[in-house]
Amino acid sequence: MYFMPYITQSFIDDLPNQIDIVDLISKRLSLKKTGSDYRAPCPFHGGKNRNFAVNAHKQFYHCFKCGESGGAISFVQKFDHLDFVEAIETIASEFGLKIEYDSNSKPVDPRLERYRVLSQKVSDFYIQQLKQSPAKEKAVSYAKNRGISGEIAQRFELGFAPPSNKDLLLNFEKNEQDTNDLKSLGLLKTGQYGDYDFFRDRLMFPIHNTKGKVIAFGGRAFDNKAKAKYLNSSESPIFSKSRELYGLHHARKYSSTMDYVLVVEGYMDVVALHQAGFTKVVATLGTATTPEHLKILARTTNTIVFCFDGDSAGRAAAWKALQVALPVIKAGLVIKFLFLPEGEDPDTLVKKESTKAFEARIEKAHTLSNFLFDHVKAEVDFDTMEGKTLFLEKVSVLINQINYEIYQQQLINGVAQVIGQSVDQVQTVFKQQAEQLIVSSPVVDDEPLEEQIPDFSNFSDDYQEIVAPQENSTAKALMSRMISLLLNYPSIAYDNDTVEVRVGVLKKIDKKFEVLLDLVHCAEMAEDTSQEELLKLFKNKTGVYKRLQQLCALVPYLSENEARNEFLDALLKVERQQKKAQSLLIKDEKEYAKNLQSRRGKKS
Ligand code: UTP
Ligand code: MN
Repeated sequence: MYFMPYITQSFIDDLPNQIDIVDLISKRLSLKKTGSDYRAPCPFHGGKNRNFAVNAHKQFYHCFKCGESGGAISFVQKFDHLDFVEAIETIASEFGLKIEYDSNSKPVDPRLERYRVLSQKVSDFYIQQLKQSPAKEKAVSYAKNRGISGEIAQRFELGFAPPSNKDLLLNFEKNEQDTNDLKSLGLLKTGQYGDYDFFRDRLMFPIHNTKGKVIAFGGRAFDNKAKAKYLNSSESPIFSKSRELYGLHHARKYSSTMDYVLVVEGYMDVVALHQAGFTKVVATLGTATTPEHLKILARTTNTIVFCFDGDSAGRAAAWKALQVALPVIKAGLVIKFLFLPEGEDPDTLVKKESTKAFEARIEKAHTLSNFLFDHVKAEVDFDTMEGKTLFLEKVSVLINQINYEIYQQQLINGVAQVIGQSVDQVQTVFKQQAEQLIVSSPVVDDEPLEEQIPDFSNFSDDYQEIVAPQENSTAKALMSRMISLLLNYPSIAYDNDTVEVRVGVLKKIDKKFEVLLDLVHCAEMAEDTSQEELLKLFKNKTGVYKRLQQLCALVPYLSENEARNEFLDALLKVERQQKKAQSLLIKDEKEYAKNLQSRRGKKS
């Protein structure tokens, strides 16, 4: 677990003075001096004319056609598809500037930089072995047989882990810290007979983070009969499989737009697609797609295209991805599914068919709604009334997980159409399903938000309770506590991908949770969301804003871990309370139904 440091405002403000925007942009575009400007075809809207002007004097760029404009940081953000901090770090490293970090921010674990530097050295070592090892022929011919060009091997910095079990060890053994760090990174193992290399006799794929730093490795065996076809570095403080996407750095670097991102399954698929000219591609690292992957992708592109084999395993993986995607869908995000012919993966297919043909496949990818309806239809006997009922029940459970209301409504309309019933009828079923899933206490819709979040004006009375919530604390006190914790430790939401979904469920039950949900949404968007950013959300809602400010002050010193545990603990308690309420409600309903029945019985 690590923190993103905050960059000082003064460094950000001064950055344009430290660099030359013409220099910066000419690393990315070929600029031509024209009058007082430098001109190029605009990278943002395309086209051949040199509408895009860079002004050295104003340190500013502007496209006369599409209107895109801004300074150095905004250019790198848009061109390299980076977030704000990433853009600053990129510029700083290109110009050799030392970033000033805010000393008030949380400490950065000193191991992290060391691990990254060492990982780069290991990558260099494997690349060197591909060129120099006495055993290199094997690797070179393997890569050739798989059709990997020299250029693409270089682009992905492919390397070779030699067959002996001590090459890496011997290269680094003089430095004790390196040796220890290599063990922490899973690159050296300790066995009965001492230390040995983890990767042996493999083609090596370094894994980069979004900033292009090597953080881990994947290794492909040369023989398909090897025990493990691929090995991956173990999880480490700089590498978490559920959070990294192979090829994302390369996708950003080699694509001029990120109008879509193709998500494939394997290293080789990414590499082969690049070679065929498809650079907007990433792979999960031998895991199913996680909510974290989706969040990263949603920040990168508007259209995510999942690409799976057409066989049953591929369909199952796609279905899993769909389920993970539902709660993440938001305005402007399109999710599609591309199924390949059975027995093919992108690597084999793109070698067989033309670029055009593969492009057409991407264009024809199924929409999420199509896939959802088709998949559920296939699970039921759709031509019967009973089948349609089952269909309705199954899709409603899924569609109820969508937080993006307009889309949800569209899908409900779609369901009505598919089963030939009125939207109202379908809506009723959806509501019932939602209530079964989550208890419904009356939701007050017209009350202004200020009234709906707990009144903390008397918080001194609640203080004890807020500081140390008991099992029987009120939902209100628990929520206050969660808000204070989140405001002080925004990473709670970023680090735990279930928080958003769970708070989303609570909000459906009780609108009071809306403020908490908004905060969670904001905090999970970026690793380094600050308290100010969170508070800013409510700038225009004076009542809420004031209360939140009070809540900021309510958290004593806690470690990140303690804060997270306490937050999750409070969340669990609220959920338990709701569950209890739910079972009471169901009991009520049963009683009511019984009454109704006996009354009906009397009538007839
Ligand atoms: P696949 O088995 O689909 O292989 O694994 P592939 O990508 O087509 O590989 P090639 O073409 O035979 O070289 C897909 C991904 O699953 C992970 C790897 O990340 C791989 O790229 N994997 C697979 C493992 O981690 N371990 C394995 O043993 C196999
Ligand atoms: Mn393959």
